[in-house]
Amino acid sequence: MRFSQSPILVVLSACQLVAAQPPSSPTGTFFTLPGPTQPASWFENMVVRPNGRILATRGDAPEIWHINPSTGVGEVIVSLPPSTGAYNLTGISRVHFEPNPCGHVDDTDDPYDTYYDYNEDVETYVFGSSHIPEPLTVTPGSAKVWKLEIDDAGTPTVSHLVSMPSAGFLNGFTEWGKNGRVLISDTEKESVYLLDVATGSYTTPLTNLTGINGIKTFIQKNGDGYLYRADHVSLTFSRIPIDTTTAAALGPAEILANNQLIDDFALEVNKHDGTGVAYLGTMYNNSLVKVTFGAPPSAGLGVRTTFASNLSGTGVGLCTAAAFGRGKNKNKLYATVGQGGDSAKLMAFTI
Ligand SMILES: *[C@@H]1O[C@H](CO)[C@@H](O)[C@H](O)[C@H]1NC(C)=O
Ligand SMILES: *[C@@H]1O[C@H](CO)[C@@H](O)[C@H](O)[C@H]1NC(C)=O
Ligand SMILES: *[C@@H]1O[C@H](CO)[C@@H](O)[C@H](O)[C@H]1NC(C)=O
Ligand SMILES: *[C@@H]1O[C@H](CO)[C@@H](O)[C@H](O)[C@H]1NC(C)=O
Repeated sequence: MRFSQSPILVVLSACQLVAAQPPSSPTGTFFTLPGPTQPASWFENMVVRPNGRILATRGDAPEIWHINPSTGVGEVIVSLPPSTGAYNLTGISRVHFEPNPCGHVDDTDDPYDTYYDYNEDVETYVFGSSHIPEPLTVTPGSAKVWKLEIDDAGTPTVSHLVSMPSAGFLNGFTEWGKNGRVLISDTEKESVYLLDVATGSYTTPLTNLTGINGIKTFIQKNGDGYLYRADHVSLTFSRIPIDTTTAAALGPAEILANNQLIDDFALEVNKHDGTGVAYLGTMYNNSLVKVTFGAPPSAGLGVRTTFASNLSGTGVGLCTAAAFGRGKNKNKLYATVGQGGDSAKLMAFTI
């Protein structure tokens, strides 16, 4: 019987799941929303599952798409009915609730291995919705947070976690530690919330963050924690040292790129020395920009290059997010591209 299994057996099965990886994915456009062309469609964000599949949130519909980058096959895994008031989906993040049952792979020589990277019997994600009737217009009081659980048979379960009536546009979602907490950026309220996923309660550790958009976190091996964030108003990419418990700021922001059109981004940080690289979605500039940056606390501006431009192939388009592949696709970077004339799509690049 399932629940009479010893914890050891459960642990082994979770570790084995991590080992099963799909074959490497092709590059270029590997997925386009099916059906009649929807030129206004866009994905707002995405997260890559331990098995390599992608969960992508639609900004123009209350849907999450589940996409296999190796085959290019995708299907709707979440579709919230109108009665939920979830018109437009925003950020999405994995959240973990227990220490790594597979042992700390952090002890390997790979400076980019993180001990967050393991499977659980049930994968839990949180994602946001806000009613965004038209670009840059958010209906007050419409912000909500949802939970998506995918069990080991692949069955999804969605539940409403919390409504945040005083919030505006819940934009970026990112895990904070591995004890059931996520940070959520609110572009309209210029704040970051710290949400306890088990209880639905939240605090507001960071305020006055004009232009806050995509966010990611990293905790270095020495225990120092950082919030990396996009600011599409001052056109900067920066990092702020934050407290690993409360997420309150511990020092000033360091600007790592400036004069940069920016939305959400993929982030890889060396756990030993804090150097790293980010691939920025550049919003309406239809491109991906690579920024290689130095260690805190005073790295200065990073080295910036255009990684890929004219993503849509039409000269116009919206690139909202980037994410690294996993497993056999670890050498791949994925990007969301919308509003380029075709329906919203996902692209892959070799890094
Ligand atoms: C938000 O979603 C609704 C459908 O739920 C859609 O009509 C609207 O265009 C979307 N807003 C944007 C900015 O895409
Ligand atoms: C908010 O940030 C601005 C610009 O960084 C700064 O001038 C201002 O003093 C800050 N306000 C508060 C209340 O911290
Ligand atoms: C937009 O992208 C183009 C092509 O990569 C680049 O030349 C230009 O500098 C970018 N503009 C801004 C404002 O980032
Ligand atoms: C974008 O790419 C397409 C297809 O290669 C090309 O025809 C077009 O001229 C490009 N536009 C820009 C602005 O680079």
